[in-house]
Amino acid sequence: MSLLLEPYTLRQLTLLNRIAVSPMCQYSSVDGLANDWHLVHLGSRAIGGAGLVFTEATAVTADGRITAQDLGLWNDEQIEPLQRITRFITAQGAVAGIQLAHAGRKASTWRPWLGTHGSVKPADGGWVPVGPSSIAYDPEHTKPKQLEESEIADIVQAFVDAAKRALIAGFKVVEVHAAHGYLLHQFLSPLSNQRRDQYGGSFENRIRLVLQVTEAVRAVWPEELPLFVRVSATDWVEDGWNPDETVELARRLKSLGVDLIDVSSGGTAVNAEIPTGPGYQTRFAERVRKEAGLATGTVGMITEPAQAEHILRTCQADIIFLARELLRDPYWPLHADDDLGGHKAVWPAQYQRATHREQPIHESDLRD
Ligand SMILES: Cc1cc2nc3c(=O)[nH]c(=O)nc-3n(C[C@H](O)[C@H](O)[C@H](O)COP(=O)(O)O)c2cc1C
Repeated sequence: MSLLLEPYTLRQLTLLNRIAVSPMCQYSSVDGLANDWHLVHLGSRAIGGAGLVFTEATAVTADGRITAQDLGLWNDEQIEPLQRITRFITAQGAVAGIQLAHAGRKASTWRPWLGTHGSVKPADGGWVPVGPSSIAYDPEHTKPKQLEESEIADIVQAFVDAAKRALIAGFKVVEVHAAHGYLLHQFLSPLSNQRRDQYGGSFENRIRLVLQVTEAVRAVWPEELPLFVRVSATDWVEDGWNPDETVELARRLKSLGVDLIDVSSGGTAVNAEIPTGPGYQTRFAERVRKEAGLATGTVGMITEPAQAEHILRTCQADIIFLARELLRDPYWPLHADDDLGGHKAVWPAQYQRATHREQPIHESDLRD
């Protein structure tokens, strides 16, 4: 029997299986609003059998968007189009999750497929981003404006307001995005945070904002529903944020009521040399799980059902996050069930005449 396809419970929420659609920006919104693209994109992955379907990084403020086309939840108008999507995901037996984010100094960039690196300047319709310190991500990015303490408090409140809207929109899991070199990670890393106030310098000071956001979101997120935090375990450069700090941060987050740490890596340093390969980040999830004693998700070049099953069986992580593999094959969870011999996954009734490649065509298949 496969663990991958087994139900998994966190607080009072049970997922159909341990496969999550990793958050993936679609750069397809106008004014932060979800639309038909998001419905079909996320809905397809729910039809495909993933137990947990996350939205892309959803901006808590307009200037916290990576691109002007990001999804957002900074106003009430943005709730209703998301409700339509969570309703559909839920009807497929999946759980809808939302990743809440602020891009900080990496805000106001071009959609990636345009092939233009760096910031969209204000003259071209972009804006000046904010960050912990006035240090640009790289020479192609606009130097951010250093946040005042009062503005930091506003950002904490923006996460809280977005979490409340997410609940109304029908999401059952919130993930705070503190990875990939975006705002919260920028505060964690000494490479991007050179403040001298209570938010910079020591480890205690650099983790302060992530803890404040998490605590404030937990306070408005229902007791019976889980809260995740995505972290980058390492900046992959000397003097950057590192795995030991990640483990200690995870301990603190656990004490604030975080249920799962979704462990990724990188995103702060342009010069980082990342030794990628199958499951290259999983060892960090394993460390956090063992040393901080809470559930972890792992992500990164996981493509094979047997690989995912091995990660779970060897107790390295509790949930498998898949990103690009689910773009290539939205039905990966249903195929994985076949591969692992479980035959537990239920194909949508509408597709049941096509569940196995070797299934012979039957006269009744031709009657319509
Ligand atoms: C198109 C695309 C968009 C992404 N957007 C996000 C995002 O919004 N939030 C996030 O945390 N990670 C984002 N990621 C990273 C993925 O969630 C994942 O961590 C990464 O792709 C590694 O997993 P994979 O090897 O299964 O693709 C994105 C990745 C891709 C390919």
